[in-house]
Amino acid sequence: MPELPEEHAVTIEALMDEQRKFTPSEEFKSQANINSQSIYAEGDDYVSFWDGQAANISWRTPWTQTLDWSNAPFAKWFVDAKLNVTESCLDRHLEKNGDKVAYYFEGEPGDSRVITYSDLYKEVNQLANGLESLGIQKGDRIAIYMGMIPELPIALLASARLGATHSVVFGGFSSDSLRDRINDAEAKILITCDESWRNGNRVALKEYADAAIEETPTITNVVVVARTGAKVNMVDGRDIFYHDLVADQSTEKAATETDSEDPLFILYTSGTTARPKGIQHATGGYLVGAAYTHKNVFDVKEDDVYWCTADIGWVTGHTYIVYGPLANGCTSVIYEGVPNFPDKDRFWEIIAKYKVNQFYTAPTAIRTFMKWGTEYPAKHDLSSLKVIGTVGEPINPEAWIWYNENIGNGTCPIVDTWWQTETGHIMISPLPGVTTTKPGSATVPLPGIGADIVDDEGNSVPLGGGGYLVLTHPWPGMLRTIYRDPERFKDVYWGRFSKPEENKWVYFAGDGAKRDTDGYYWLLGRVDDVMNISGHRISTLEVESALVDHQSVAEAAVVGRADATTGQAIAAFVTLKGNVVGNDDLLAELREHVATKIGKIARPASIVFTDELPKTRSGKIMRRLLRDISEQRKLGDVTTLANADVVREIADRANSAA
Ligand code: WTA
Repeated sequence: MPELPEEHAVTIEALMDEQRKFTPSEEFKSQANINSQSIYAEGDDYVSFWDGQAANISWRTPWTQTLDWSNAPFAKWFVDAKLNVTESCLDRHLEKNGDKVAYYFEGEPGDSRVITYSDLYKEVNQLANGLESLGIQKGDRIAIYMGMIPELPIALLASARLGATHSVVFGGFSSDSLRDRINDAEAKILITCDESWRNGNRVALKEYADAAIEETPTITNVVVVARTGAKVNMVDGRDIFYHDLVADQSTEKAATETDSEDPLFILYTSGTTARPKGIQHATGGYLVGAAYTHKNVFDVKEDDVYWCTADIGWVTGHTYIVYGPLANGCTSVIYEGVPNFPDKDRFWEIIAKYKVNQFYTAPTAIRTFMKWGTEYPAKHDLSSLKVIGTVGEPINPEAWIWYNENIGNGTCPIVDTWWQTETGHIMISPLPGVTTTKPGSATVPLPGIGADIVDDEGNSVPLGGGGYLVLTHPWPGMLRTIYRDPERFKDVYWGRFSKPEENKWVYFAGDGAKRDTDGYYWLLGRVDDVMNISGHRISTLEVESALVDHQSVAEAAVVGRADATTGQAIAAFVTLKGNVVGNDDLLAELREHVATKIGKIARPASIVFTDELPKTRSGKIMRRLLRDISEQRKLGDVTTLANADVVREIADRANSAA
């Protein structure tokens, strides 16, 4: 067993005691899209398996080769094939399903919109024409910074229609984060909105965008959706309202032909350094993977209504609100706001209103619902639900069981789906009509996906053991590179366990996992410096550098400590400069400083001031020890520390702060 952080040992023990099993009912099985184990054997020849799945999307020109792995780890899927993803997502549905609902939009204040495939097609084309009139061409980057309104998926699709590359920045990120992402991608246009609704409050997105744009030389225009109708600053010649831009545009726009390997989008995510990585996804393979997994993991049928509660600012929204569902011609719900506005039953009200059949959310949300109590879901008719899913972090068995009983009524298969921004689509997950589930386990890799658990040397760990989760062969939705940083791509994901001299390429996911004797995977969390706060990835270094950026801070160390609701919470330890005094005001100021630098999601839950940070003799901060302190674990041997007595002092302060 490699050296996993100590808290994992505790988690493993708790999980391995989990004996409950849930087998899909005969009734569910008999109607499922996939109901035979034999699909896994088909997936063993993964290249031909994915070759077969590619028939489910529209291509203009077929491929000459399914996978070209000759320049590994740089993959090419569906070589030489031509397509435009919007033809799969829109055009091909028009004839039979033009009047079918693509999106039921539910605004937080209670307004709603019904958007058919034909409406969506027209709006996407109008915006594509508008963007083209502003100079967007194939290959240009478009930054998108919006709330969860229909114009958000429309913006992604309009970008794709033109063969441009979108880079969505989550609306909860700060001006600085937006600015850095725009500059890294050298985006030409920013699409944003005046304000967004969140928990009954207005979030001034245009204002944040304006601050960002002051330092983004590549942006020539800003397109502004009027969501709340607030009066916002519009810069002459630069800013244009969305409704003005599309007003006179044609509802037809020939899609630009793209190569299967042309970039579809960049999405920034946190790694182990302070600088987020621009994860670059390609076109053809991504859509094949998105469509296959959406259809089969959620067992979606022609007339189903499906709802993924993620924000389109994250990869889950890209793949499972936009590309997967639309490629499958599915009807989805998009909800703008928080689950407790106006009251704590909003989600359940929406499920009842639209008779949602598949519901996909995050463990942190489920744990919050548990805290709120069963009376909220009990008030509504949830009997339309057939499959319920989770994503983003490990789900503890207790939350799984609660979800099963109170939302799934004990009859809906639960799909606990493991994947990453980098993988593009779901990788490890039950197939609801096939897999016997165990609460807390994402079960087994999907057909066509290769995974393993390895030790420090990269050797496969026998069943029953734990180690690092790796992916053993390419898959269609895999990231192609880190934007403008291919060396980092090779190093971060393929550097650790691959053996290039033997032409053996192994993808390191950054997660620890254990595999039980049935071969089921139990995810244990990150093994690197990435924290997972409510399912959002934030690097410890990102928060540390935001803290050190403050004039009063000399040094900072940040760890993710276990939290019953958010999975992890950010715990910071800070040493102050010279004669600065650490008091409650400064504490609040530092928390706000991080929110301004990165975004509210990165605001530390706790900050402890200390005269020194515990360091090894070589000067490395002992983050592990700080995590033990934050989680009030018994401290192990500290004799290797350069400054052993500092530990007691920090522990005392942390305890009194808790
Ligand atoms: C974690 C979100 C356990 C994991 C799609 C991964 C999970 C990171 C699960 C990716 C799951 C995601 N069980 N852990 N079902 N799903 N994770 O890039 O640590 O935002 O590496 O993608 O979330 O987060 P990302």
